[in-house]
Amino acid sequence: MDLQQVAVIGAGTMGNGIAHVFAQNGFTVNLIDVNAGQLEKAVQTIQKNFDRQIAKGTATEEQKKTALANLTTHTDMAAGVKNAQLVVEAATENTDLKLSIFKQLDALAPADAILATNTSSISITKIAAVTKRAPQVIGMHFMNPVPVMKLVEIINGYATSKGVTDTIVTLSKQLGKVPCVVNDYPGFIANRILMPMINEAVYSLYEGIAGVAEIDTIMKLGMAHPMGPLQLADFIGLDVCYSILNVLHDGFGNPKYAPCPLLANMVTAGYLGVKSGEGFYKYEAGSKELVVSERFN
Ligand SMILES: NC(=O)c1ccc[n+]([C@@H]2O[C@H](COP(=O)([O-])OP(=O)(O)OC[C@H]3O[C@@H](n4cnc5c(N)ncnc54)[C@H](O)[C@@H]3O)[C@@H](O)[C@H]2O)c1
Repeated sequence: MDLQQVAVIGAGTMGNGIAHVFAQNGFTVNLIDVNAGQLEKAVQTIQKNFDRQIAKGTATEEQKKTALANLTTHTDMAAGVKNAQLVVEAATENTDLKLSIFKQLDALAPADAILATNTSSISITKIAAVTKRAPQVIGMHFMNPVPVMKLVEIINGYATSKGVTDTIVTLSKQLGKVPCVVNDYPGFIANRILMPMINEAVYSLYEGIAGVAEIDTIMKLGMAHPMGPLQLADFIGLDVCYSILNVLHDGFGNPKYAPCPLLANMVTAGYLGVKSGEGFYKYEAGSKELVVSERFN
């Protein structure tokens, strides 16, 4: 399949990055969001990220120009997907919202279009089941920040066809990414392994075994992780970690995935990490210094 026309649904953190890499690699991209302001912000972010790549020597001024020319924004889904050969959905992580988007996409996108989702935790099989084209529905899980991170975790739903998987693997390589194909069970692979590690780090803190800095330093220096698990949790968002742990817990019915009560308390109290200004660390605007939240001193 000669795939050229791509639609990306959702112009937030992930959607702008996904649109960026497709446009940079010569695809025609329609970026769609219900919020026009978010679309404007996304185009500005893509421009800024290109400038950063140009300064680093990983992209050229010419590539930036071509990529921006390849990109169009839409608030109307019907107009945005009518010629799409591939739709990559990166809207807000909410099951009802995604099911409703996929029902609409099934009605609006060409019958042979592949429908992919960037969901971190919702079952691909469940999303596919609301469409009449389950063999053409697949998970395409990019990592944040998309222009920088090499991995695409490709998730086969229960009914995904081999041809569609092969197309998405080839396409991911065309984007300069490294695809890894996995099957559709809670958390897929990335979050199934990452989230219990983060949860264990939170439990170690909760039980008073070590402090925030010690836990993160041990994992950074001892395991050569670029970021400790508590800092990473702050970066991902503690609400997102909590919600994915609940998906694992509900999906497998195994108590080992139950989120730590400390994590639950922090989320309920609004300490969500970087996005709220405080989680395990405190974040001051403009400062790059890593300061442990005083609640853990
Ligand atoms: N942020 C991450 O690190 C990360 C990493 C991997 C995967 N993901 C997944 O990517 C998806 C998007 O996450 P994000 O962090 O970019 O979220 P975000 O909140 O930054 O952006 C979501 C966007 O979706 C838009 N939206 C909501 N409803 C819509 C609709 N009906 N039609 C079109 N647009 C709609 C919102 O206006 C918003 O701009 C989620 O499924 C998330 O699980 C996120």
